[in-house]
Amino acid sequence: MIVTIDGPAGAGKSTVSRLLARELGFRFLDTGSMYRAVTWAALDRNIDLNDPKALAELAESLTITLTENSLQVDGVDVIDRIRDPQVTRNIGPVADHPHVRWILVHLQRTIAREGNYVCEGRDQGTVAFPEAECKIFLTASPEHRARRRVADLAKRGVEADYQCVLEEQNARDRRDETRAVGRLEQAPDAVVVNTDNLSIDEVVQRLKSIVLDKVASISEHSPLDSSAQT
Ligand code: DC
Repeated sequence: MIVTIDGPAGAGKSTVSRLLARELGFRFLDTGSMYRAVTWAALDRNIDLNDPKALAELAESLTITLTENSLQVDGVDVIDRIRDPQVTRNIGPVADHPHVRWILVHLQRTIAREGNYVCEGRDQGTVAFPEAECKIFLTASPEHRARRRVADLAKRGVEADYQCVLEEQNARDRRDETRAVGRLEQAPDAVVVNTDNLSIDEVVQRLKSIVLDKVASISEHSPLDSSAQT
């Protein structure tokens, strides 16, 4: 089973998706970390982010290995480095690049074949897994999201100005919502959850009940369900 969780930056997707996966006994796939990994590699290797051909060649050449708690690019662990504000600031051309997206979506589908997954990102329910059994669109007001981002950065020892974070986030939202391929949009069959004023635990419990309702309705309509047979 695939559960997709899409939504804008800072809606709490990563934290709650990871916890939801643990509660369900599913694996967790953070697809944003893949776009971050390619961006980190481009910066590390001085590749011009505005050169689409160079970016495509880079993405094709990289070996990205992802587990729940580690992310390696060509054997180098970059799990902390990909959260650097410099990576976040430069991710646009990577996420906008149709061929890079194609490579990463392919990798996401390959990974998710291995078991039950909670897949988190922007285009999981629309592009990567349009057939997913359960789709959730997680959102929150821009102000709540920016406050959370500032708190997250502080936890990692990075001091950030709220107004700058809000402005960068608004710009990233616009870019995420308007890119030609893989834009952030709600799948028509997604359940929308607004996380403003909800604790992490409340969000996780709400998502869990959405998934369990979905599982119940799938088994009700399954031709193998004995109660549906005469
Ligand atoms: O969720 P995040 O902030 O780690 O994502 C980093 C960037 O990657 C974000 O600006 C949008 C992009 N992204 C994407 O385009 N598609 C995805 N499935 C996941 C992330």
